[in-house]
Amino acid sequence: MIQFEHVSKRYGKAGVLAVDDLQLHVPGGRLFGMIGPNGAGKTTTIRMLTGILTPTQGHVRIGGIDMAKSPVEAKRLIGFVPDGHDLYERLTGMEYLRFIADLYQVDAVRRKAHIEKYLSLFELEDAAYNQIRSYSRGMKQKLTVIGALIHNPPVWVLDEPLVGLDPRAAHLLKQEMRLHCDAGNTVFFSTHVLEVAEKLCDEIAIIDKGRLIARGTMEELRSGEKCASLEQLFLDLTEVQQA
Ligand SMILES: Nc1ncnc2c1ncn2[C@@H]1O[C@H](COP(=O)(O)OP(=O)(O)OP(=O)(O)O)[C@@H](O)[C@H]1O
Ligand SMILES: [Mg+2]
Repeated sequence: MIQFEHVSKRYGKAGVLAVDDLQLHVPGGRLFGMIGPNGAGKTTTIRMLTGILTPTQGHVRIGGIDMAKSPVEAKRLIGFVPDGHDLYERLTGMEYLRFIADLYQVDAVRRKAHIEKYLSLFELEDAAYNQIRSYSRGMKQKLTVIGALIHNPPVWVLDEPLVGLDPRAAHLLKQEMRLHCDAGNTVFFSTHVLEVAEKLCDEIAIIDKGRLIARGTMEELRSGEKCASLEQLFLDLTEVQQA
């Protein structure tokens, strides 16, 4: 469902090689987590996956559609929760959700059902008619999640989605990610919370200095080291080289 074919990204002509020859295929129906140290290239990878950044080299395909050649068709398949909240601060939460539903041409019946269900689930009903600029960080995150799911996307992409969420909201979001996958969709997300990656994901990729250094199920990553936790694997694989 998601395909990175020899994808690299260099920021500026002599800038840092943030992603280095990434080859990764994520089949449909998988809950796929990406972990890696700060600056490893996770956000850069996700921005190329969602068509916000153009790769310096290589191709990104969503459901077989080339992001560079057919960006509108490819983006239609994606719902994206970015790591920041550059929302339209003067819109109300409800105006924002209706705007996103318009963009994705979601019909009136489906949008109403979706908005009502998720505003209630994330306890945002009371704030729905307030301007987004009055929202807390977690409330903005919840609103972004609701908007990203409004067109029931086959591919849901989230960059560090649990940051700023209270425990109940984090629990709900993890549940929604699992449900979305179980309904046959693909979920691709980055996180620094290794327990979440370990418990939630069907498969995990570890990226370091722009390179994919490991990928597989928890069992495959352990590969013999039966008791190794993901934290220990992460520390071993991303060991800082001493000068
Ligand atoms: N807009 C940019 N211009 C230049 N360099 C950038 C830019 N964005 C990221 N980089 C560089 O690319 C590399 C990868 O950054 P990226 O944001 O993808 O990492 P990350 O894995 O998401 O890190 P974090 O865990 O801190 O979110 C870093 O060396 C970073 O300094
Ligand atoms: Mg990042």
